[in-house]
Amino acid sequence: MQVINTCAHMQHHMRLQQPQTVALVPTMGNLHAGHARLIQQAQTIAQHVIVSIFINPNQFNQASDFSSYPRTLDADVSLLETLQVDAVFVPDEAQIYPPDSTEVEQLRAPYLGDEFCGRFRPGHFDGVCTVVARLLSIIPAHYALFGEKDYQQLLIIQRLAADLKLATKIVPVATVRDDDGVALSSRNQHLAPAEREQARQIYLALQRAQRNYALEKIEEIQQEAIDLLTNQSLTVDYFSIRDAADLRTPSAASTRIVIMTAVTIGTTRLLDNVLFQIV
Ligand code: PAF
Repeated sequence: MQVINTCAHMQHHMRLQQPQTVALVPTMGNLHAGHARLIQQAQTIAQHVIVSIFINPNQFNQASDFSSYPRTLDADVSLLETLQVDAVFVPDEAQIYPPDSTEVEQLRAPYLGDEFCGRFRPGHFDGVCTVVARLLSIIPAHYALFGEKDYQQLLIIQRLAADLKLATKIVPVATVRDDDGVALSSRNQHLAPAEREQARQIYLALQRAQRNYALEKIEEIQQEAIDLLTNQSLTVDYFSIRDAADLRTPSAASTRIVIMTAVTIGTTRLLDNVLFQIV
């Protein structure tokens, strides 16, 4: 596996390899089994799989969140070796955002950027869009894979790719859960054992809301879930039942539903969702 630190080296690598199909898995490192699933799916659709590791300062609202983000490069590189990834791109900030360059434009999230998580993390999705567009200009992959756990991010990136007429197909990958139902996330490691117990309530509340979807009014289901989670001392930013296609309120035409939530336990903010078809 090649470890590549510069854009010039990446261009050289691509010229040398000339792969027929390339898949990019963009990450911020601190890799876990959820990332492994993205990589394994990438390997089924592309000949050459590249993982990027870049902790993007541009998408953090709080400097302390950025500085405390876990940096585990050695372990990440070992895992990627085991997974037989072809190359890992680990640029520094100057490679992604060259100083005094007009090459990189700060983008605005094309839609939904100020809603749901965007309301609580102003500018976050602008930063995500900017870095994803930049990574795809350095590595013009045929496919880029993103987890469904960050469902709002996934929809925004799909819209961005369409708006920018990128040749890259954005591929969603299903959420991976631990045995206790908690969705895998780099943030789970911040949970104390008692908080981890509390975190189990998130998926339980989502599953309960899904079961009740056909039985109760949406507003009632949402409020019940918020009450349930709040009673367990979780702070709920939102718990929303939406049309999975565009995050609008479901209508008679909706065929696929997402129930999304963001909660904070102690100081750890977690996202999760369930997706399902309706007949
Ligand atoms: O989901 C993430 O890890 C990040 O938001 C991403 C897509 C790698 C952009 O920095």
